Amino acid sequence: MKLFTCCLSLSVLCLTLLAVEVDAQEQGDQSGFISIDCGIPGNSNYTDKVTGINYVSDSEFTDAGESKTILPIHRSSSLDQQFLTLRSFPQGTRNCYTLKPAQGPGNRYLIRAQFMYGNYDSKGVLPKFDLYLGVEKWDTISFNKTTSEELSEIIHVPTSEYIHVCLVNTGLGTPFISSLELRYFNNSRYTAEFGSLQLFARLDFGETFGNYRFKDDIYDRKWNSIKYINSTLVYNFETWTYIGGNKVPYKVMTTAIAPDNSSNPLKLPWTPANASDQFLIYMYFSEVQTLQPNQTREFDIYLDGKPWSRRPVTPYNRSTVTVYSDALEKPAASHELVIQKTKRSTLPPILNAFELFTVKKFLQFQTDDQDTASMMDIKSVYKVQKGNWQGDPCATRAYAWNGIGCIYNVSDKPRITSLNLSASGLNGKIAPSISNLTMLRSLDLSDNNLSGDIPDFLSQLTLLRILNLKGNNFTGSVPSSLLSKSKSGLLLLSLDSSQEGGDTNRCLSSSCKKSTNKSTILIAVSIASVLVLILIAVIIILWMRSYKMRQAYIKDDSLETKKRQFTYSEIISITNNFEKIVGKGGFGTVYHGYVDDTQVAVKMLSATSVQGYKEFQTEAKLLMSIHHKNLTTLVGYCNEENKLGIIYEYIANGDLEGHLSGRNPYVLSWEQRILIAIDAAEGFEYLHHGCKPPIIHRDVKSTNILLTENFRGKLADFGLSRVIPFEGGSHVTTVVAGTPGYLDPEYYRSNRLTEKSDVYSFGIVLMEIITGRPAIGTSNDRGHIVEWVKSRLEEGDVEIIVDSRIRENVDMNSVWRTVEIALACVSTASDDRPTMDFVVSQLKESLSNDLCRSETRKKELVGVQSLNLESEVSGPQPR
Ligand SMILES: *[C@@H]1O[C@H](CO)[C@@H](O)[C@H](O)[C@H]1NC(C)=O
Ligand SMILES: *[C@@H]1O[C@H](CO)[C@@H](O)[C@H](O)[C@H]1NC(C)=O
Ligand SMILES: *[C@@H]1O[C@H](CO)[C@@H](O)[C@H](O)[C@H]1NC(C)=O
Ligand SMILES: *[C@@H]1O[C@H](CO)[C@@H](O)[C@H](O)[C@H]1NC(C)=O
Ligand SMILES: *[C@@H]1O[C@H](CO)[C@@H](O)[C@H](O)[C@H]1NC(C)=O
Ligand SMILES: *[C@@H]1O[C@H](CO)[C@@H](O)[C@H](O)[C@H]1NC(C)=O
Ligand SMILES: *[C@@H]1O[C@H](CO)[C@@H](O)[C@H](O)[C@H]1NC(C)=O
Ligand SMILES: *[C@@H]1O[C@H](CO)[C@@H](O)[C@H](O)[C@H]1NC(C)=O
Ligand SMILES: *[C@@H]1O[C@H](CO)[C@@H](O)[C@H](O)[C@H]1NC(C)=O
Ligand SMILES: *[C@@H]1O[C@H](CO)[C@@H](O)[C@H](O)[C@H]1NC(C)=O
Repeated sequence: MKLFTCCLSLSVLCLTLLAVEVDAQEQGDQSGFISIDCGIPGNSNYTDKVTGINYVSDSEFTDAGESKTILPIHRSSSLDQQFLTLRSFPQGTRNCYTLKPAQGPGNRYLIRAQFMYGNYDSKGVLPKFDLYLGVEKWDTISFNKTTSEELSEIIHVPTSEYIHVCLVNTGLGTPFISSLELRYFNNSRYTAEFGSLQLFARLDFGETFGNYRFKDDIYDRKWNSIKYINSTLVYNFETWTYIGGNKVPYKVMTTAIAPDNSSNPLKLPWTPANASDQFLIYMYFSEVQTLQPNQTREFDIYLDGKPWSRRPVTPYNRSTVTVYSDALEKPAASHELVIQKTKRSTLPPILNAFELFTVKKFLQFQTDDQDTASMMDIKSVYKVQKGNWQGDPCATRAYAWNGIGCIYNVSDKPRITSLNLSASGLNGKIAPSISNLTMLRSLDLSDNNLSGDIPDFLSQLTLLRILNLKGNNFTGSVPSSLLSKSKSGLLLLSLDSSQEGGDTNRCLSSSCKKSTNKSTILIAVSIASVLVLILIAVIIILWMRSYKMRQAYIKDDSLETKKRQFTYSEIISITNNFEKIVGKGGFGTVYHGYVDDTQVAVKMLSATSVQGYKEFQTEAKLLMSIHHKNLTTLVGYCNEENKLGIIYEYIANGDLEGHLSGRNPYVLSWEQRILIAIDAAEGFEYLHHGCKPPIIHRDVKSTNILLTENFRGKLADFGLSRVIPFEGGSHVTTVVAGTPGYLDPEYYRSNRLTEKSDVYSFGIVLMEIITGRPAIGTSNDRGHIVEWVKSRLEEGDVEIIVDSRIRENVDMNSVWRTVEIALACVSTASDDRPTMDFVVSQLKESLSNDLCRSETRKKELVGVQSLNLESEVSGPQPR
């Protein structure tokens, strides 16, 4: 074996010239081939008489479509057997073949789909449809006549184990396919650097021997033999002992064209389908004549009028010289290659073979391989008939499989987060492959005919938060691991009412009654009744309080510290005679002002409102004794006869509710929202655990979270706050107070106030932050936010609950985490709610997820402050 390598440097590009490449693939070896003849009977196979290629039926690769045969009149004797049958897809918009090549992802494959209409449907109308590779469009297939043989071919390096070839109906006729071939293409000469290479032309110049493919071409490239205008055929009949270059078959290389008139150049013009297409060119040369000592053949190559080969090319005897682009050619409306002999050349230029590729970039990720494998298994085990369960499960949003929800990341493969197989006619046991859907958050298997045990592996799905198993025929007990997760609030577990009793005394299926949606109804009823009662209660409380307050008066000793006391006349000068109102609360008006050069907010109790005295007193007292970066700072107070005022630091960006409701046009990003939630949660954590005795805010709501200049959160309005005396244990019994929509139902029922009441209200705030909806829906969309969120989640998709203004720019992992925290906070039983320090740590993790993602997207959404957080994220918080 002879090795022959040299390099031609060209002015525009460096072109490599080489002769021989040693390859492991042997002639006649079909081990890297998948050859599908579409439409032949299931499980049949045959060996093609001309090529010797073994074709198999397509039944293993698709479960859609109908098998069809072209009309006999179009069966010419020269027609390839693969065109006789086809598969057509009258049902559904998108139907797919799924291939799983043994060599796996990261390798080069040649993928070729062929089509011939042959009036198989006797309609005589030529269809037009799209061809997809994975989740992105590859080509549009159309026909000039009934017997046109159309071909799409691509050299592609998949990033997933599964290669999906899909036919998409675009409303211009029923898609069909005649054959689908995949060849493991271990040939590094075809660069994958710029993207996938879509075949534009592959020409064998000279007409002597006809078209070549396998076994002449070990890769089964199809060489199109053509006669070229204004050229003569030159050839030799010598049989080569080795194959050079890109292993172009020697039969292809033994013929060439030369210009008619030997002093003319050879011209190859072509017009791209799209002027913005970028080409890669491969040209193959080999000497086909025996040269005399006084003869030379040497030529230059020009592309679009500019020199393309920097040095002259000389074809070699008995070997192939390949001249090819090593960078994308400049796009143009039309192109022309000109091969011109040099001055010293005595012979005209020749050209043996030629390939043109356009570069196609497939940038979108396919679904994670393990998730895909699980879905393929679920599909085949249950024989799911869901219409669009074709190709990639998450695909693009438009073609995602019915019943699944996915996280789409910019920089990573989509993952499946929810699976809704409710009422899908599933029989048998719960498929073990579900345990491989490791990112699953929500699983709905309700109303099927599933039987057997409820498997323990469901509890190993660590992220699973919603599990609905109602309306099935399970036997045995519910795994205790699932029950304990459910009890600890980590899992919303829905079982038939008869199964809810516990792990020991579960009835057998035969005696189980048909399930009713008991728990959902309970939630709905309790929330509705709670809301009505809360409203009544609040009215009564307010009335009672104002009655009491009318008799109340403020003693000076209640505000012990006199240092920060201001006179009323000082207040007038601070506020410039109450010039600028920045807010109005229930008990008074808030004015803007300056103490020295510092901006302040001054809350004045309105003269007519006596019921606020106690709140004022509480707040001033409390703020004087506590201090934290996430609580509004007290600057001072005024207590002069009937003039009562509190002076706080001025917080520039108003309250959180204003930003969520849209009253304030600035839209908070997801990162900003989570940072604000962390700030607030840290404020509450300080009140609950940092203060001795602990303090309960009692009026946690989005209007009481203020936003600084940098959109960081600070808690405000401590008017209703209560100190829990040590002797009283962890709770205090009080008259119920708070704001409708945020009020802890347990506190409402029992009058027992604990820190968990704040946790409940904070859960409502978190839901507002996620959804951008108010705690209680307005006008046409009434209902409590908890109810709203839970019912949407039961539909399986977390994305739809996210505030539509930011939905496109959130990391769904971070959303899921935050939703989980919120759901845990609003647990009906206060024991099931987390403490604030846990909430803080969880929110920080949710943020760190999101920061990682933002970093990969090279976005600086969060800014310096939040990045500081990263160091705090790991490890427990110092107490
Ligand atoms: C082809 O079909 C025969 C039976 O008709 C079977 O034994 C053989 O395994 C099949 N080959 C392939 C590659 O499917
Ligand atoms: C269809 O026919 C026209 C004219 O005969 C020709 O220019 C065009 O290239 C053909 N298209 C295809 C896809 O063969
Ligand atoms: C692919 O080709 C290279 C040489 O080009 C060879 O070393 C390698 O073993 C081949 N891989 C396979 C799987 O045939
Ligand atoms: C072929 O030659 C004729 C006459 O020399 C010329 O007009 C025509 O453009 C040539 N065609 C091509 C494709 O070069
Ligand atoms: C070949 O081309 C040259 C220059 O274009 C011309 O002078 C000559 O007559 C041509 N010869 C023939 C045989 O056409
Ligand atoms: C040509 O390609 C560009 C970029 O790929 C695309 O935006 C445009 O729609 C294409 N035009 C046609 C006519 O297909
Ligand atoms: C090359 O040499 C041959 C004889 O070997 C002669 O007939 C021919 O004219 C020569 N050609 C040139 C261009 O000198
Ligand atoms: C081409 O190969 C033949 C046969 O081996 C040899 O006789 C001849 O000299 C070679 N020609 C050139 C230009 O290398
Ligand atoms: C889960 O996936 C692994 C590899 O990804 C595979 O080996 C295993 O068989 C799968 N388990 C099930 C139950 O499908
Ligand atoms: C439930 O399963 C039992 C056996 O496990 C069977 O006898 C019964 O018919 C099943 N019920 C339904 C509704 O399928």
